[in-house]
Amino acid sequence: MNGILSMPGRSAESLVDVPHTLEPPARSTLPPSAQRSLKALRLSAGFWFLIALVGQWLFAWYIAMVYARPVLSGTPEAINNTAKITGYIVGDGLGNSLLISHVLAGGLISMLGLLQLWPWLRRRVPGLHRWNGRLFLALGMLGALSGLYLTWIRGSRLSDLGAIGISINGILILIAAVLAWVHARNRNLGQHRQWAIRAFLLVNGVWMFRLGLTAWLLLNQGPNGNTAKLDGPFDLAWSVGCYLVPIALAELYFRAESSRSPTRQWLSAGALGASSLLMALGVFGAWLMLWRPHL
Ligand code: HEM
Repeated sequence: MNGILSMPGRSAESLVDVPHTLEPPARSTLPPSAQRSLKALRLSAGFWFLIALVGQWLFAWYIAMVYARPVLSGTPEAINNTAKITGYIVGDGLGNSLLISHVLAGGLISMLGLLQLWPWLRRRVPGLHRWNGRLFLALGMLGALSGLYLTWIRGSRLSDLGAIGISINGILILIAAVLAWVHARNRNLGQHRQWAIRAFLLVNGVWMFRLGLTAWLLLNQGPNGNTAKLDGPFDLAWSVGCYLVPIALAELYFRAESSRSPTRQWLSAGALGASSLLMALGVFGAWLMLWRPHL
């Protein structure tokens, strides 16, 4: 599959005409056992997509209500009505602007990002796919750079160790976004696809942190390795796990979809299905504990 995706001489427009995002290769050329496992892989990816869509849009709605509404109505200081690490400080023009652009970029990313992985939309409206992709990568980089500023220059961090985990995430976002962009421009379509998916998962590390944390709290019926400063053993492990685990699952998926081994595909489908169920618990937990109370 990657061979097809990497065929030289394709136009930029053909970026949207090749198997992409969540689509495994055509099934018709495979033996029946491999067709079944590939179908399971495709279904598990679709299941993951639906749960992620609900979770992303609920997060976007929270951001719209808690941040965009006060900013648009001319009372940006009202974002402090919900607990913040630093929040809005009267007189800190640069810090406030970066905080507001950081969270509003996060809202747009959560609203628009997953559309990039929806094959139907990409085929029907390829221009939208290209512009949305550029917007996503630009906003992701803006989010990473402004986040690094807020954490290390403005001093908005609960603990140094926890801040290191999210800062590595920020640096990886910059690397993955640049590589996704460069491979698209150079028509390395297989590489572009994989780096775009990695960039998507990295950009959503902070969202996944919230899902994992609240799922953990629900499963343990309360804190277990958590502290108020988010520097307990679980908090610190998850501050890097929230992007490394999704990236590892994506690597498993990439290998399974291009493999002719049904076992590998069943394993990958099982891992994706099980992690989607955990993700569903996290969406429920984040909605219950973090987002709904502020709406
Ligand atoms: C590009 C991906 C990112 C997105 C989508 C994102 C999104 C957000 C959102 C929505 C908030 C508000 C949280 C809430 O009210 O619950 C927030 C706050 C914050 N983010 Fe990010 N973020 C991203 C990356 C980062 C990175 C890489 C860092 C640090 C290196 C960072 C540092 C912060 C800090 C310090 C705050 C708290 C500011 C305060 O409360 O004063 N973010 N982020």
